Amino acid sequence: MLIKKAADIASSEITSKSLYLNRRKFLAGSAALGAAALAGVGVHSLASPPLVEANAKIDGLQKSPFSTTENVTPFKDVASYNNYYEFSTDKYEPASLARNFKTRPWTVKIDGLVKKKLELDVDSIMKMAAPEERIYRHRCVEGWSIVVPWVGFSLSELIKRAEPLGKAKFVEFTTLYDPGQMPGQRRDVLRWPYVEGLRMDEAMHPLALLCFGMYGEVLPNQNGAPLRIVLPWKYGFKSAKAIVRVRFVENQPVNTWQQSAPQEYGFYSNVNPNVDHPRWSQARERRLGEFGKRPTLMFNGYDQVAGLYSGMDLRKNY
Ligand code: MTE
Repeated sequence: MLIKKAADIASSEITSKSLYLNRRKFLAGSAALGAAALAGVGVHSLASPPLVEANAKIDGLQKSPFSTTENVTPFKDVASYNNYYEFSTDKYEPASLARNFKTRPWTVKIDGLVKKKLELDVDSIMKMAAPEERIYRHRCVEGWSIVVPWVGFSLSELIKRAEPLGKAKFVEFTTLYDPGQMPGQRRDVLRWPYVEGLRMDEAMHPLALLCFGMYGEVLPNQNGAPLRIVLPWKYGFKSAKAIVRVRFVENQPVNTWQQSAPQEYGFYSNVNPNVDHPRWSQARERRLGEFGKRPTLMFNGYDQVAGLYSGMDLRKNY
């Protein structure tokens, strides 16, 4: 994978020290995003063969009315081409580097502005509601997309157990910090731990998925085991992996990508073909495993969330 170095940045691009520092930090790891977008995806031939293993099956899956009928992307592609900076900035490496990642025991802390602070074992979370298979389109900010049969249930099932207070306006999700197990965290490519956030009404929307499986099996480690969120109407980076904390807060959290490159990534990050990334167009996307590009749809085609943003300028609130 091509990673642009700080030395490659033209001095004309440097407008201020803080922007430069932000940009340097960002480019050290994440310009993989730009490089991938420019080079296009499908550079598989450069990588060593991915390591993809079968996982435990999840029984009793219910079908979901939210599922798309589009062709599902092959498991091997979804499990071998990953963005998971805690392991590597290279998309082919998380599959092997996360191989021995320990996902048990695993507890999730739920705190902040709630009536009931909870510390829950992941296995008890998985039993909170009937598992559903939801076939969602998933669009990465870099311009590639996949169609994945995720397994989980609405995030609202978990949220309501904690009984958030009226003052809670946002939810913050934090990924595990464990540099011993996650080699990417030994490098300063992002601020660790990885943090993402949603507005309460977004988090409570039935499409927001608390996810612990895919393709009928528990999640492969590289896809965010044991627990992640999946937000199909937002760019993929909002869908945080390996979550250990869910915190309810009054003020809008600063998410990791916004913190690393505020000129490029915002808080909402709704899929929007009309708003270009500063370094590339977002109008089209390439499905992993396919040739050619297709048009990207507003909200990634999930029009049922449009009401959440009525009256908002989505060019400003990107
Ligand atoms: N969560 C954590 N903790 N760390 C990450 O680097 N990458 C994000 C998101 N969640 C990321 C993360 C990005 S950029 C994308 S596109 C999706 O995970 C990729 O999910 P997938 O590997 O299951 O396709």
